[in-house]
Amino acid sequence: MKVLSVASELYPLIKTGGLADVAGALPIALAAHGVETKTLIPGYPAVMKAVKKPKKVHEFEDILDERVILLEVKHEGLDLLILDCPPLYERSGGPYLDTQGRDYPDNWKRFAVLSKVGAEIAAGVLPSFKPELVHVHDWQGALVPVYMRYAEAPEVPSLLTIHNIAFQGQFGATLFPYLGLPGHAWHEALEYYGTISYLKSGLVTAHALSTVSPSYAEEILTPEFGMGLDGVIASRAADLYGIVNGIDAEIWDPSADPLLASKYSGTALKKRAGNRAAMVERFAFDGDDGPIFCVISRLTWQKGLDLLPDVIDEIVNAGGRLAILGSGESGIEAALQNAAAHHRGRVSMVLGYDEGLSHVMQAGSDIILVPSRFEPCGLTQLYALRYGCVPLVARTGGLADTIIDANEAALAAGVATGVQFAPVTVDALRRAIRRTLRLYSDHRLWSQMQKQGMKSEVSWNRSGATYADLYQRLVSKGL
Ligand code: ADP
Ligand code: GLC
Repeated sequence: MKVLSVASELYPLIKTGGLADVAGALPIALAAHGVETKTLIPGYPAVMKAVKKPKKVHEFEDILDERVILLEVKHEGLDLLILDCPPLYERSGGPYLDTQGRDYPDNWKRFAVLSKVGAEIAAGVLPSFKPELVHVHDWQGALVPVYMRYAEAPEVPSLLTIHNIAFQGQFGATLFPYLGLPGHAWHEALEYYGTISYLKSGLVTAHALSTVSPSYAEEILTPEFGMGLDGVIASRAADLYGIVNGIDAEIWDPSADPLLASKYSGTALKKRAGNRAAMVERFAFDGDDGPIFCVISRLTWQKGLDLLPDVIDEIVNAGGRLAILGSGESGIEAALQNAAAHHRGRVSMVLGYDEGLSHVMQAGSDIILVPSRFEPCGLTQLYALRYGCVPLVARTGGLADTIIDANEAALAAGVATGVQFAPVTVDALRRAIRRTLRLYSDHRLWSQMQKQGMKSEVSWNRSGATYADLYQRLVSKGL
């Protein structure tokens, strides 16, 4: 089966979060099921620089007033279609934000053009690649099914995956005339409380919807998690699927990971020590006894990391250390930097994004903290499982679905892989840290939990098959 995937980020070329990991890993997992995926992405500078000898396959004279060249190339096992359009994508900041952290003012156009080209490919503009299904990701790809719906071309089935409903692609109504859609598309699809919502319009036009864990699929039907779109999603509940993310088990393999200071496996956990030593040095810890907690995350309200400064004493007083890698909201960054200054040698932070260090931290830490207020899936807890780093997570979304809490029954059965807590408050997090420390002090039990985590099925094996099945059903069902 031929599938067009449309995404705004893609590991290893451009990444701000888990979407990139998923968009990069899923095509490889699906190949094993006879699915041939080409991924359409914008030609950001990082993309244009990394790919070798791309081939021009089409030129669009006028997509929303822009001239766009479509390039094709293979890169690290991925088949890519790249939108070459320097006025839209050649920017010095990230994929969505400028160097000052502000949204680019023309994001509406940057991702409308991405989506319109996706719809053109779906309509068969490339003689060499006629997709039988289109799989789009988040608001940046959400106009693909909209353009498909209003094109004068036969449609193919479309699947829209919600990775994070907090980002909706909301813009002023005055932009509507510039999107190149018929007037009736306004009320039928785009209009959302008098504004334009790309995500909402995709939710009403895509043939099927999915999100990245079964629990989150349930949660977004409720006002608490639906972020204003719960009603729209509820009206599509029959077409909504929750499929938990996997991880690329070749990239994230502690026995072969070239980024580690010391490689190891579930039967040689002692060798984690080399990575621990590397962390002690990098984070300038004042010793290497006691548990090392880590955080590898966007520092945002979603991730619950505003609670962290209030529980740090619980870790430090117990003789633990905390290593933080991330960047995000300035208030959270500042509070954590303060905490690090206050607990020098015990709490330390690397501000920014560092893929290599994130691997070493998963391999050298004892516990990863993921206290998210909501988490569609979450990948860091999956990497942690694979690396023998025990996840302490909020009981929400994909975190609830992937970590088995060390309650009495799970411990007795030997199946526990981490610690869950709820609600996401300072008190509950504090109690969870205490509970984790008690578990940590029982050496036998702790290493059993680590080993159990390392045995968990976190690869794409199961979910890859589920997606392939869903694609097949959508294609056979017809429109
Ligand atoms: P989200 O996509 O909501 O940010 P996920 O857990 O799904 O959360 O994915 C986050 C991805 O980004 C993981 O691969 C994680 O390791 C990575 N990551 C997050 N922050 C950093 C950072 N500061 N440096 C390196 N990798 C990071
Ligand atoms: C989003 C979510 C995260 C999920 C990732 C990949 O960024 O916040 O929970 O793991 O997408 O699906």
